[in-house]
Amino acid sequence: MSGPLRPGTRLPGAGQALTIVLAAGQGTRMKSRKPKVLHPLAGKPMLEYVLEVAAKVSSNVVVVIGHGAEEIRGAIKQANVNWVVQEKQLGTAHATLQAGPFFEEHRGPVLVLSGDVPLLKEETVRRLLNAHEGSGTRISFLSAQVEDPTGYGRIVRGAGGGVLRIVEENDATPDEKALAEINAGIYCFEGRGLATLLSSIPCNDAKGEYYLTEAVSLVLASGGTVQALETDPVETLGINSRLDLSQAEALIRRRINQEHMRRGVTLLDPSTTYIDVTVEIGQDTVLYPNTYLLGRTRLGEDCTILPGSLIVDSEVGQSVRIGAACVIEEARIADRAMVGPFSHLRPESVLEEEVHVGNFVEVKKSTLGRGTKANHLSYIGDAIVGKGVNIGAGTITCNYDGISKHQTIIEDDVFVGSDTQLVAPVTVGQGSIIGAGTTLTKNVPPQALALSRAPLVVKESWAKRKLQKRETTE
Ligand code: UD1
Ligand code: CA
Repeated sequence: MSGPLRPGTRLPGAGQALTIVLAAGQGTRMKSRKPKVLHPLAGKPMLEYVLEVAAKVSSNVVVVIGHGAEEIRGAIKQANVNWVVQEKQLGTAHATLQAGPFFEEHRGPVLVLSGDVPLLKEETVRRLLNAHEGSGTRISFLSAQVEDPTGYGRIVRGAGGGVLRIVEENDATPDEKALAEINAGIYCFEGRGLATLLSSIPCNDAKGEYYLTEAVSLVLASGGTVQALETDPVETLGINSRLDLSQAEALIRRRINQEHMRRGVTLLDPSTTYIDVTVEIGQDTVLYPNTYLLGRTRLGEDCTILPGSLIVDSEVGQSVRIGAACVIEEARIADRAMVGPFSHLRPESVLEEEVHVGNFVEVKKSTLGRGTKANHLSYIGDAIVGKGVNIGAGTITCNYDGISKHQTIIEDDVFVGSDTQLVAPVTVGQGSIIGAGTTLTKNVPPQALALSRAPLVVKESWAKRKLQKRETTE
């Protein structure tokens, strides 16, 4: 660049692009009460994917919202964006124009992204910006060759191959509908003159909307040039319906799975492994088929997750083994613990190192200390369990008295015999033994034996006599 910089002028390059994200539409075709751009893909609203790309390529991002504006603002975590409200959704050109106050003074490229095109990659946007810069064209935009162009704007090219216009599905002739090159809805404009260009777009009579795609014809009619950059059709998938949503979900999941495999995670069957984009997994962890890792879940290194488990918002240490068919929600599991098969860890469950929780054991809001074992058929709720405790099969913490919840405390090295009920609030002191079948209603001091057992009655030949009696009366 030559000549002195004027004050306020920013340096050239992608960094100076102003980015407008269109997200005001209702998304009628989704048939949903939720604004379209908030529908999640692999655990994150689709708009957040677009905003992440926007934030990577420019520091000045304006999001145009309208339908469900407050809900969108509340749901979106990215802080560094300017919000503009399009009161009435009068089309994509009208939406872009709402960001006028931001681009009127802008000297440099204006990038327009669509809130419903979430698979777009940063490198593709950079390619568009680079192709636009210095090209002398007034509009550069992304196109793609797709198998089924239904619903998209089609790119009409002239005999020489140059773009003539973009025609929307509703306005297309049968010949135009057969065109496989579609408009991705991602554009780069010149900031200078953009407001005038958008203001001169006529209203589409059929829809009563101002189409941004009309800018192409207007520029060409005034002697300007435009260019379409062909790109990967996966990236340009626009989400208008639940069907599109499911396709995008599958594509994003494939991307996520591939990334984990690249980083050293084994997925035995990627096609049945569902990992949210927010999940982190350590090296050498092995995921068996039908694994679901959702939300803010983090798995450490060398873990094994056997088939059919659902892990949500949980933190799992290293070398943890999760047996088949477990449900784990908002739990913390430390290194070398073993869970399952068929265990249910509910919110605020904490398993410390080397804890074993086994078949048909449910844990809720409880901490199990290092090396403690609860291997069969138990319910542990609102409990603090120390280290090295053995919880026998069929142990129940009776934490609820019908009105409120109470705590059970089991200190280190306690042995709880099978089929014990601990009626909370209750404390079992360190090293004590609870005999099998005990209903514990009082605190137990350390090193004691607690036992509640009705005397055993054995009546010899009683069953035989009963049978004989029945036979004689029949
Ligand atoms: C649009 C393009 C079409 C392209 C397709 C790519 C137009 C007229 N058509 O069609 O050529 O192939 O995208 O996916 O631009 N929006 C607003 N305000 C509005 C209307 C829309 O903010 O008044 C937003 C929507 O929220 C959405 C985006 O603009 O994020 C695109 O709108 P949508 O109605 O989905 O356009 P398409 O019919 O998909
Ligand atoms: Ca769309």
